[in-house]
Order: sequence, then C-alpha cells, then structure tokens
Amino acid sequence: MTHQRDGWGSRLAFILAASGSAIGLGNIWRFPAVAYQNGGAAFVQIYIVFVLLIGFVILIGEISIGRSTARNPIGAFRKLAPGSPWKFVGVLGVLTAWGVISYYSVVAGWTLSYIFTTAGGAFNHTMSAQEITAVFSSTVASPGRALFWHFAFMLLTVGVVVGGVKQGIERWSKILMPLLLLILILLVIRSVTLEGAEVGLAEFFRADWSKVGFGTFVNALGQAVFSMSLGAGTMITYGSYMNREENIVRSAGMVAILDTLIAILAGLAIFPALFTMSGVEPEVGAKLIFIVLPRLFSEIPFGTLFGTGFFVLLAVAALTSSISLLEVPVAYFVDERRWSRKRATVFCAIIAFCMGIFSALSMGAVPGLSSMLTLGERTLGFLDLMDLISGQCSMSFGAMMVAIFVGWRWGTKNLLAEISHAGYVGPVRKLVAFLIRWVCPLVMLFLALYILTHPSAFA
Ligand code: PFF
Repeated sequence: MTHQRDGWGSRLAFILAASGSAIGLGNIWRFPAVAYQNGGAAFVQIYIVFVLLIGFVILIGEISIGRSTARNPIGAFRKLAPGSPWKFVGVLGVLTAWGVISYYSVVAGWTLSYIFTTAGGAFNHTMSAQEITAVFSSTVASPGRALFWHFAFMLLTVGVVVGGVKQGIERWSKILMPLLLLILILLVIRSVTLEGAEVGLAEFFRADWSKVGFGTFVNALGQAVFSMSLGAGTMITYGSYMNREENIVRSAGMVAILDTLIAILAGLAIFPALFTMSGVEPEVGAKLIFIVLPRLFSEIPFGTLFGTGFFVLLAVAALTSSISLLEVPVAYFVDERRWSRKRATVFCAIIAFCMGIFSALSMGAVPGLSSMLTLGERTLGFLDLMDLISGQCSMSFGAMMVAIFVGWRWGTKNLLAEISHAGYVGPVRKLVAFLIRWVCPLVMLFLALYILTHPSAFA
C-alpha cells in the first residue's frame, strides 16, 4: 500500500497553518470580552498560566500523535492502540471538528457580509442605535441572507482545502496570516490613538482581582482549549503532515505564543476604542461585534475604512480556522477510505453546510430554532447549543482524553522519543512528560465535569 501523503513544505508552513487554526473568532471576538468580564489583566495572567501548563502541553501531545503516525485522528489512534476503544477518541475528534465548523461558518458568514455592508458605507454618524441594530437583525434573521453567506464562506473554505496541504492550506496560510497581523496592528494603532483611549487601555490592563472567582479559572481554561484548537483532531491532523526533522516543542511554543499574542492585541484593538464612546457598556458576543463596534466605526475618522478592515480581519481569522476544521474529516476519508481529496472535500463540506443550516436559521428566521433550551437566565438557540456541545463540552473532553492517552496508554516514553530533537531530552521535555501524565488529565477532568454540571456558565 504505497500512498504518497501530502505534507508541509517547511517548518514555517506548519507554524503558520497551525497558528492560523488557533487564531480565529475565539481570539478576536471572545477573548477580549471574556477578559473584560473577568477582571482584565487578572484574567489574562490566569489564562497565560493555563496556556503554558495545559494548552501547550496537550498541543505537543496532539502534534506528536499526528506526526508519529502520519494519519488522521481515527487512523492515528488505531495505529497507536490497535483493536482498542481508543479509536473512538479519534471518531469524536472528527465529529467535533464537523460540529464546530457547521456553526463557525455561519458566524464567519456574518463577518463576510459585514465587510460589504461596512465598505458600502451603511454605518454613518447619523444613524441611531436602533438603526444599527436593525442592520444586524436583517442580516442574521433573514433566511436568504444568512444561508447565502454561510454558503459563501463554506465555498471559500472548500476552495482552500481542495488544493491540498501544500498547494492549498500552506499557500493560503502564508498569504492570510501576514495579512491578518498587518490589519490587526493598524487597528491597534488606530484604537490607541483615539482621543480618550487611555481609559479603555487602563481598564484592560488593570488587574481587578475582585472579579476573579472560581468561574474565572474555568473560563480561562475553556478559552485556552478552544483558542488553541485542542480536542477536535485539528492539531493531530496538522501534526501528521509535519516532517521528522522538525522540533515539535519549539513549533508548538511558537503557536502558543502567537495565539496568545493575537488575543491580547485584539483586546488592545477593541477596548481603548470602545471606551472612547459615551454611554456604551462594553457588550459581549455578537452584540459587541455587530452592533457596538459598527456604531463606533460610524463615529471615528476613517471609520468606514477601519470598520471594513476589522471585518476582513475577522473573516480571514475565521477562514484559516475553518480550513483546519474541514481538513479533519477530509483527512479521514482520504487516508482511510482512499477517496480523492476533491471528493472528500466536497462531501465533508456539504454535510457541514447542511448541519449549519439549523444554526443559520436559529437567529430569528425560524422561531423554534431560536429557543431550544433554557439555562439559567439564558435561552439557547440551535447555534448556541452547537457551540456548547461541540465547541465547549466535546473539545474539552477530547483534550482530556488526549492527555490521558499520551500520559497513560501511549506513554511518556514514546512521547519523549517523538519530541526529542536530535536525540536531546532537555528539562522542558521532562516537564512536559510530567505535566501530561499528572497535571493535564486531572485539570481537564475537572473542567469537563464542571462544564457538564454548570453548562450555563459557558453558554
Ligand atoms: N481556535 C479557533 C478560534 O479560536 O476561533 C477555533 C477552532 C479552530 C476550534 C479549530 C477548534 C478547531 F479545531
């Protein structure tokens, strides 16, 4: 069975593609808002500790599983633990990636549509808050528009993935990631030079430990898992295209650093600007991005330009994440079923698109889909529910299983052999082995149980 597998062209290619997966809506949209609600710099510090002790370590575990087997997640677990139920962790990864992309593409579709809305000058200073809200409602609640943009975004994702690892994902990551960084830096400069920006800046950098509670730790950990794309099979898949000469620890370190840096920069782009507006309470979630920020763009000099740039940034960040999500099931069909990449990509995207239809219609178009479940004070629609199930529960559970697998089944000896670069086993690698065997499984078990028993804290 000789089957030539596609792979990365260089070390940089892996770093760009993997950080492209990690950097997404989670960094730009979710991180700044969660940080703000949880004590600003206090949250950021806790988050960084989790990234170092848990996220970075599990990321190394996932990449190692992928590289040592050169297989998609299902094939990888099958190869490392033949004939055992461990393959279901791979199955779960594939299903999770499919679940996440289905709603991720819907939200990404809104950002795509907002590029055109903003560039067309839809937001100007004469508009009232209600009018700006109405623009959002008409985008997400109209079935035709929501489905059209969801479809358009999925098509873009297919366009990249169908090209393959080197000619598709790598090529586009090399274009999109520098573009993302450039736009973000311009936005940060714009934001911090606005009159009155110091207030928001100080607010973001102030460590308010009084807002830190138990929930802060749980949120920081959940955010780290989502943001680093763990537990969904993506890093196993991307690792499987890595070549033997590469230093896994160093590459994983770069991805962790870039992911965290971009999240913090996003905070610097959003908060100073937000606090220059009078009478605005920093909102979270979709409201912040699609209602509060457009209002801001309607008021500042060159707002149309910066507003358009902001939505391009979001769409680019989302695209490099969604290609990594689609690649997971695609790799399964290509590796295990010997499908052509084209057939696998189109098939996987159609399934993801169809699942996403329910999310796309759950923002007002079909009332039944808008309120599926009530948790505490919140009513969850289909999209929120998908996020809770696949984006939070499943990914955390998957990341926990990876830690248990590497620490206890595959074993730290095999892990160390995989990550020892040029025969060298330094103290960092020993520490990684210790953390993945003892600390990560326990901490992740705790998170998984917490999410199951307190879902409203995450919804
Ligand atoms: N890490 C991405 C973000 O922060 O938006 C989302 C994501 C990508 C989750 C890939 C899971 C995944 F496999």
